[in-house]
Amino acid sequence: MHISLEHQVALVTGASSGLGAGAALALANAGASVVINYNRHAEPAEALAERIRQDGGKAIAVHGDVSKEDDVEALFARTVDTFGALDILLANSGLQRDAATVDMTLADWNQVLEVNLTGQFLSARAALRQFNRQGPRPWVSKALGKIIHMSSVHQLIPWAGHANYAASKGAVDLLMRSIAQEVGCQRIRVNAIAPGAVRTSINQDTTTGDKASRLLELIPYGRLGEVEDVANAVVWLASDAADYVHGTTLFIDGGMSLYPGFKDNG
Ligand code: BGC
Repeated sequence: MHISLEHQVALVTGASSGLGAGAALALANAGASVVINYNRHAEPAEALAERIRQDGGKAIAVHGDVSKEDDVEALFARTVDTFGALDILLANSGLQRDAATVDMTLADWNQVLEVNLTGQFLSARAALRQFNRQGPRPWVSKALGKIIHMSSVHQLIPWAGHANYAASKGAVDLLMRSIAQEVGCQRIRVNAIAPGAVRTSINQDTTTGDKASRLLELIPYGRLGEVEDVANAVVWLASDAADYVHGTTLFIDGGMSLYPGFKDNG
């Protein structure tokens, strides 16, 4: 199977590092023109865009806070001004503000929900509006458009000390499935990816050093995830090879969501 996203335009939110950056690069390598959205870190986002351009691809870096309606509108307008259309949205921006619930500040609760959930709603809404506005582009894809929500194994697995994060990802699951139910009839494909413990800056403290071996006990497949594990799935899910995949969550977690603690105790 050869996957090409040539002539497609992909927007990746939160793409200055981690899963977003890896996915943006993979989408560009598959031939898509890529918009690399960032909020705080302009430099790595610009560097990634430059790297893609030097390799013969098309990419721009665009600032925008996904939790702000005006920023999201401006981000999508810039995408269409630059590349003429939008075919793929990877709503990836997300953050953690960890604390025991008893100590969690309202600010930490709100910030996580605003970025991880409201940001995904605003981005998806803007993508849906753009797909409808531009109409079918059958020479690039069978679908009118594709939306991929970046979720987490914690849409399923409760996570003590991270109630804000787990609540936001649980909500992303029903956000995704509700939108999918709503727009499938328009040939807009909506899905999610739920990564487990992938080695990125979001979980540096648990994926390195002593804590890494404890983390491995939670992963039946016996290794941490790499950014490419997720990026490859993004490319496939965005492509027509996955044209009949709609309203589902693809867990990319080495089996973390199999509750491995039950293997010999339950
Ligand atoms: C979190 C990581 C964590 C992983 C598995 C992800 O959603 O962002 O920090 O390592 O889930 O627990």
